[in-house]
Amino acid sequence: MSDILRRGRLSKNPGEEMRAYTSSMEADKWIFEADVYVDMAHTLMLSEQEIISAEDCSKILFGLLQIKEEGMDMLDFSYEDIHISLESRLIDLIGEEAGGRMHSGRSRNDEVATCIRFALRGELLSLLEDLMKLDTTLTTLASEHIHTLMPGFTHLQHAQPTTFAHHLMAHADALERDISRLISAYGRVNICPLGSAAFASTGFPINRYVTAERLGFSGAMTNSMDAVSSRDFLIECAAAFSNTMINLSRMAEELILWSSQEFNFVELDDTYASTSSIMPQKKNPDTAELMRGKSGTVVGAFAALITICKGLPLSYNRDLQEATPHIIKSAHVTDASVRMMTGIMDTLAVNTGIMDAQSVAGFTTATELADTMVRDAGIPFRTAHQIVGTLSRTTTTPTLQEIDSVSSEILGFKLSDKGLTEAAVSGALDPMSNVERRLVVGGPAPIQMRDDLTEKKRRLSALQKQIWDMDLAIERALDNLEEEVKKAI
Ligand code: ARG
Repeated sequence: MSDILRRGRLSKNPGEEMRAYTSSMEADKWIFEADVYVDMAHTLMLSEQEIISAEDCSKILFGLLQIKEEGMDMLDFSYEDIHISLESRLIDLIGEEAGGRMHSGRSRNDEVATCIRFALRGELLSLLEDLMKLDTTLTTLASEHIHTLMPGFTHLQHAQPTTFAHHLMAHADALERDISRLISAYGRVNICPLGSAAFASTGFPINRYVTAERLGFSGAMTNSMDAVSSRDFLIECAAAFSNTMINLSRMAEELILWSSQEFNFVELDDTYASTSSIMPQKKNPDTAELMRGKSGTVVGAFAALITICKGLPLSYNRDLQEATPHIIKSAHVTDASVRMMTGIMDTLAVNTGIMDAQSVAGFTTATELADTMVRDAGIPFRTAHQIVGTLSRTTTTPTLQEIDSVSSEILGFKLSDKGLTEAAVSGALDPMSNVERRLVVGGPAPIQMRDDLTEKKRRLSALQKQIWDMDLAIERALDNLEEEVKKAI
């Protein structure tokens, strides 16, 4: 048996079905590059610690460089995973006398945990970049619409007038929380389990800090048993991806509704629309529908991950291999959805005229009218609520005379006798003055929105800087590692 893993303990090769059932080679494509870097950092350290000779180190690194160049296609896919397949290729290239020393002082258990963290942080950085673009796109669009009136909804019923900017910024602020959640998760992903070996570390005098630093990690994980057996970082990221997708699917749902004849608030650009194979007139918002659907895929991946981890005894169990494809899928679907939403929002046609006209439909100004009665006539809000509620049964634009007649019935006096004027009533019924009055922090008044947008842009650039710094730290570490490899050959 030539299988470098099984040849000692096992006397038979697995059948095709058993291979297919147990192999992680397909998902391991995701960690191929990570594995090569991890091998390089580990090999350099082994030589520095005099665990292997400088000569063997140089041969191993030479082989690893060749493997990196030739790519994963040259690996033997009949092995159960990338780690052993890569080691086998190395031995084919440089011989077992040197190549067989690379795996000293480690196990595939710490190796795979390190590779997953390495690859996942790359996904997090790309997703963060793309989320920043989406948040910026929404903020820019909002800046153009601080005076665009629209009806705000509760229970999907017209509720109060607001502006399109206010509505867009609600989504933008939710996405900003996704960004900070992912940054926070990144901090727990970017720590290095390497050197924990199978779970009890190793008797070789390895240096865990040096490998962690070379690979761009912020530090080494402490307990070696925890390091190989924990996948809470996957659960955490999948939860953050799920949250992002839920936020996106809510936006998608609105875009779908708003594209309907009934709303007609927006129109998706043709590039993001589909048509029907039978109904020639159809323009369908399929991209948004798929986004809504794909949120199910991502939440499903989260459910799979958390269930795989439930009840696993310490330390490493092969069940953990089953987790990897779910994190890959959820990261990729989330990132693709974010990019798609950016394109949709960037090219969205907004029917401001319809939004404006609809901003008063359904008596959305009723709350402001009740508030005006409280302020001008001094009656309790609950009583004003009753008066306006009664009026709303028959009209959406009550006159002062109509108000007086209802108040006389309920209170026994006219509100005009208590200071309510025609001008105050028509001011309360005007949607723009409704909005302008909502000047409190977080409210839709254009003056307030302008401040909020300035503050938002400041926060976004601080986040952007943080992300660039995270990115740069990895790039520097890996450039450095490549330099060291070249020097050591
Ligand atoms: N393919 C394995 C995984 O993804 C790598 C670790 C294998 N370790 C083991 N003890 N069989 O988890």
